[in-house]
Amino acid sequence: MAEEKKIEIIQTEDGSHSLFLPDMDETYHSSHGAIQESRHVFIKHGLDDWAAQHHADTINILEIGFGTGLNALLAYEWAHQHKKNVVFYTLEAYPLKEEITTQLNYPAQMGQEDFDAPFQQMHQCSWGTLHQLSPYFSIYKIHDKLETVSFPAVNCQLVFFDAFAPSKQEEMWALPLLEKVTDQLVNGGALSTYCAKGQLKRDLKSLGLTVESLPGPPGKFQMVRASKA
Ligand SMILES: C[S@@+](CC[C@H](N)C(=O)[O-])C[C@H]1O[C@@H](n2cnc3c(N)ncnc32)[C@H](O)[C@@H]1O
Repeated sequence: MAEEKKIEIIQTEDGSHSLFLPDMDETYHSSHGAIQESRHVFIKHGLDDWAAQHHADTINILEIGFGTGLNALLAYEWAHQHKKNVVFYTLEAYPLKEEITTQLNYPAQMGQEDFDAPFQQMHQCSWGTLHQLSPYFSIYKIHDKLETVSFPAVNCQLVFFDAFAPSKQEEMWALPLLEKVTDQLVNGGALSTYCAKGQLKRDLKSLGLTVESLPGPPGKFQMVRASKA
């Protein structure tokens, strides 16, 4: 992937924006609905499922691929709704420019216009430092590639694995990188991803995780959640 890439803002079927990379012929989210997909994969089958089985006042999340910041904003909403402390670590190799991020319609589409300021703060705050954006939500952005990053020593309850599809960026799904990411999980922690390829499931199983195929968001048959015993 080139550092300077052409990016188009598109509208998905639920009204929320996503981004299209013509050079890669790839979008950041499902065309069936960006918010709908992220809520299903990372909130319902990430945060909700984990919180239904565990009690913790603080939940550390590691996201692979910060991108538009949609998952961070949905986690922010969840933290406020559940009055739980979420610390959101997120990795991004190619941060978006402000001229793109200021146009994204997520707060309005979520019916949370008052989230506009924290959403912009998520994008504008500096990398490599923890920023407390509210009583319930802190963010730590890591500007690096998955291949080269050394993660801060944090025990994560959840991983949101949101790389581009294996058909477009196969290297992100390589076994050593999956191991590097799942090593960040505590026992009882879980990784969720929209991808349900057989190779991914076999690789996660080979790392000792318990792999579940769950119904996918609209337009996708299945997704994967992998838990560490
Ligand atoms: C599917 S998109 C991001 C989705 C994002 N969570 C969102 O809601 O917008 C994948 C992201 O991974 C980032 N990325 C691509 N290659 C990467 C790499 N080698 N290391 C870390 N991030 C990478 C892309 O720039 C992009 O933001």
